[in-house]
Amino acid sequence: MSRPDDKSSLKTDPLTEKKVFIKTYGCQMNVYDSQRMADLLAPLGFGVADEAQDADLVIFNTCHIREKAAEKLYSDLGRLRPVKEAAAGKMTVAVAGCVAQAEGAEISARMPLVDIIVGPQAYHRLPELIARSVREKGETLDTDFAVDEKFDALAETRRAEGVAAFVTIQEGCDKFCTFCVVPYTRGQEVARRAAAIEKEACSLVENGVREITLLGQNVNAWRGEDGEGLGALCRRLAKIEGLERIRFTTSHPRDMDEDLIAAFANEEKLMPYLHLPVQSGSDKILAAMNRGHTADHYRTLIAMIRAARPDIALSGDFIVGFPGETEEDFQATLGLAEEIGYASAYSFKYSRRPGTPGAVMARQVAEEEKDSRLESLQKLLRESRERFCESLVGREIPVLFEKAGRRDGQLIGRTPYLQSLHAFAPASMIGSVRPARVTAVTPNALAGELA
Ligand code: 5AD
Ligand code: SF4
Repeated sequence: MSRPDDKSSLKTDPLTEKKVFIKTYGCQMNVYDSQRMADLLAPLGFGVADEAQDADLVIFNTCHIREKAAEKLYSDLGRLRPVKEAAAGKMTVAVAGCVAQAEGAEISARMPLVDIIVGPQAYHRLPELIARSVREKGETLDTDFAVDEKFDALAETRRAEGVAAFVTIQEGCDKFCTFCVVPYTRGQEVARRAAAIEKEACSLVENGVREITLLGQNVNAWRGEDGEGLGALCRRLAKIEGLERIRFTTSHPRDMDEDLIAAFANEEKLMPYLHLPVQSGSDKILAAMNRGHTADHYRTLIAMIRAARPDIALSGDFIVGFPGETEEDFQATLGLAEEIGYASAYSFKYSRRPGTPGAVMARQVAEEEKDSRLESLQKLLRESRERFCESLVGREIPVLFEKAGRRDGQLIGRTPYLQSLHAFAPASMIGSVRPARVTAVTPNALAGELA
């Protein structure tokens, strides 16, 4: 159980001037959570180590979404065992994130080197868990779901960062897609209060942040206390002076309401980029996945969004080889992907997750079949991305410069469409949006010159 008074006792703890190493697996929510964990531990004297062997505290911030991600944790823990033994009692090992949530008991049984297991809703209690673990030298487990107190607790300790930052506004999912563990590991949908979000955004902007990405597992399911939706929140944040760009991710087609679509048309700070996963182009598979929409519903949404913001760059997620997916179903996915013309997209082989309805469905697809479908889809998506990038060559677009590039005199910035662009520009332009002409497409970025 939580004992808030433990936190203050840490200040005089022998834990000061120590180092933490955090390894992050998975999605942007996890990257964000890892940064917040580091921020939370900094006032307790933890600097960041580049390698596990130099750390007093090693945190694995895990992902459970596909089987491979969870397996990676066990092999990393196995490799850490001799390192921890060599540290002779001076190293604490914590497993955080969705694997901790889903497999807490299994981790402690299989991996006695783990001292702390902490679920995604309990990070703000890390200082207390560490103190307890060090004091008692026993294993500490906290995977109880708490309410949104976590958001604010983490925001308080947040340190200034670069030009672009994430702000979590929503967590959890009530959609229960039949392939997905998120509703079980991250719990119910919880929305953070608008005033708290605005406060954090303002403080980031005061510290030099110019672009904010609002994060949530189902970010467009966000609702304020008065029922306002994400469109209204974007408009509210757009009023913050000095904030130049707003983005949000990840959205669900079912929560894409008219007001949010309208925001793409009227709110110029909202960037023309949308990650809107569809998963499959077959209605039969979409129904089996419990997505709650058809392929045509998705097409209609995209048409509305493009009408509101013609230059929008679209991104998506796809799963191939969901149980029962025939060649015909897969062809429907290819057809939809081709038709939409994604600027970028992620695609995965279906991974059977224990505890989800999909795992026990009949007609699982053979691994080789999944491999070959994934290959065809990825080829199509790669070509689609290349076409989108090529279409920008010769055009002048606003770029937010973020940091120095690899070459002398070069800066790296971000286009409205979330691509990296490098150009020769003075360092004084870091933090500002400047027009640049795209000159070439490189494998991972665009090349440009100041216009
Ligand atoms: N197998 C494969 N891909 C999955 N995703 C979620 N669960 C699974 C699974 N069991 C993918 C979906 C989702 C993205 C974050 O991960 O495409 O949108
Ligand atoms: Fe998983 Fe579906 Fe929820 Fe996305 S909407 S987190 S895929 S259950």
